[in-house]
Amino acid sequence: MSFRNISKEALVGSITLGVVFVAGYFFGKKKSYRMSISKSHCGGKDNPLMQYVLNHSMREHPVLKKLRLRTMEDSWNIMMVACEQAQFMGNLAKLINAKKALEIGVYTGYNTLNMALSLPDDGVVVACDISEEYTGIGKPFWKEAGVEHKIDLRIQPAVNTLDDLLAAGQAGTFDFAFIDADKVNYDNYYERSLQLLRKGGIIAIDNVLWGGKVLNPAPDDADTLAIDKLNKKLHKDARISLSMLTVGDGLTLAVKL
Ligand SMILES: C[S@@+](CC[C@H](N)C(=O)[O-])C[C@H]1O[C@@H](n2cnc3c(N)ncnc32)[C@H](O)[C@@H]1O
Ligand SMILES: *[C@@H]1O[C@H](CO)[C@@H](O)[C@H](O)[C@H]1NC(C)=O
Repeated sequence: MSFRNISKEALVGSITLGVVFVAGYFFGKKKSYRMSISKSHCGGKDNPLMQYVLNHSMREHPVLKKLRLRTMEDSWNIMMVACEQAQFMGNLAKLINAKKALEIGVYTGYNTLNMALSLPDDGVVVACDISEEYTGIGKPFWKEAGVEHKIDLRIQPAVNTLDDLLAAGQAGTFDFAFIDADKVNYDNYYERSLQLLRKGGIIAIDNVLWGGKVLNPAPDDADTLAIDKLNKKLHKDARISLSMLTVGDGLTLAVKL
């Protein structure tokens, strides 16, 4: 299925963009609109400013750290959420007293674990993925962190899981959704998440800049076209208020009105 394609896309996007950073900022006069997009994976690697940010803000739970290091051994690790972005989303969830969250695209479950750790003991993360293999990597860590009872993992196409939740009468009951699975379905995930959320709930959408490709989508690049189309739709969507942040690979926050 398309997760293989996604990851290749993400890989290419990420290599293309690399760690172009703040040049225009420091050498102010020059007109530069380069974006500060780089996935940290908590290393900051060749980017001292990113290192500084991580060194002065990350409070990664020890089991999250273990899961991150385990994930880095996987060949598709570029798919993992940026850890400073995960910490930010955990803070957002706490800010709105979230109890119920959707994770659409789990991979090894770094953010699934992060959200489970951020929610109260009776909270739940409905975690959607199609891969037993990837999610299987995360499970032991969820258990080790003592939050596996908060994680409801459903292995099937995420659209089906969201439809199941709607059919089970759970519309309006979720507080937070993180959309991070296959890009061509982003609009399906958005529409269903919006129904499942209560007013004041937050939808966080990952990869909205897609390594910069949204600036100039190739006509046959379905992923980039889908992301760009959704970005344009959200900009004028009266059902939400929004921000598009240059965190990670671009993160849109949509607050349900
Ligand atoms: C970018 S990764 C998710 C990263 C994750 N949020 C994290 O915290 O690291 C995307 C995931 O979406 C999954 N995926 C792809 N197509 C899917 C679909 N139709 N339904 C559910 N999951 C899907 C892939 O198996 C992959 O694990
Ligand atoms: C960040 O911390 C690492 C590890 O302690 C250190 O090697 C690096 O120099 C620090 N970088 C910055 C910019 O603070």
